[in-house]
Amino acid sequence: MFDRVSTGISELDEMVEGGIKKGSITLLEGAAGCGKSTLAVHFCLSDPKTFGTCLYISVEEDKKSFFENMQRYGLNLQEHESSGDLIFHQLNSAKLKDFMNKGTLGIEDILVQNKVSRIVLDSISAFTLLYETEAQQRIAVQNLFEKLRVWNLTVFIVAEDSQDYRSFGLLYLVDGVLRMSYKKAGRQRVRTIEVLKMRGTKHRAGEVVYRIEDNGIVLYPREMILDSQT
Ligand SMILES: Nc1ncnc2c1ncn2[C@@H]1O[C@H](COP(=O)(O)OP(=O)(O)OP(=O)(O)O)[C@@H](O)[C@H]1O
Ligand SMILES: [Mg+2]
Repeated sequence: MFDRVSTGISELDEMVEGGIKKGSITLLEGAAGCGKSTLAVHFCLSDPKTFGTCLYISVEEDKKSFFENMQRYGLNLQEHESSGDLIFHQLNSAKLKDFMNKGTLGIEDILVQNKVSRIVLDSISAFTLLYETEAQQRIAVQNLFEKLRVWNLTVFIVAEDSQDYRSFGLLYLVDGVLRMSYKKAGRQRVRTIEVLKMRGTKHRAGEVVYRIEDNGIVLYPREMILDSQT
């Protein structure tokens, strides 16, 4: 039995002792357009025969354009959906609340019927906006995570890199944090990914360069980042 689940990118797996811990919740945060959904799809499609079916919950993006965008990288979501490796759910944030709470015809049914073992929630931003105060947001997210833990799912939570989450302590509620950045390096911009924390894992420290290429996200662990500023 495996106890680590691949992120779908072998160089990223190497940064976290071979993969993220089975049953853990990892936050994938970064600025708009930095490649969060692409990375989440790499995770989702990684070896479903070994790591099991993945449920991808898209709160903001329309299914048709999402599938088309991922097809550009040769990531065929349609094919995976047809073969049952992937369950794709597009919801608005109000429906997400219902979906997570309902006993029947909600998430629980889908998990059981399809033997789902992994989930991507893309993203949590709209969900937290349903709650007014930081205290309410924290409680709602805590309740959500409690459920995910009971179901023993390996989870990727996508979030915009924003002060809002820091204020209610999202970084402390998750087991791991991957931060994606798109920062200035001289006159250029460079994309970097960093493991900020990964409970129970000896992880690589510091940022690693990645690029979004024709086949999706590619990491360059040996590349130096020069003259960078945020
Ligand atoms: N074929 C490609 N080659 C290089 N870069 C690409 C290609 N296709 C898309 N991109 C880049 O990928 C980015 C979008 O990636 P993705 O949707 O995964 O980001 P995101 O962080 O989820 O965005 P959002 O915050 O809008 O949800 C685009 O902004 C673009 O810069
Ligand atoms: Mg996205």
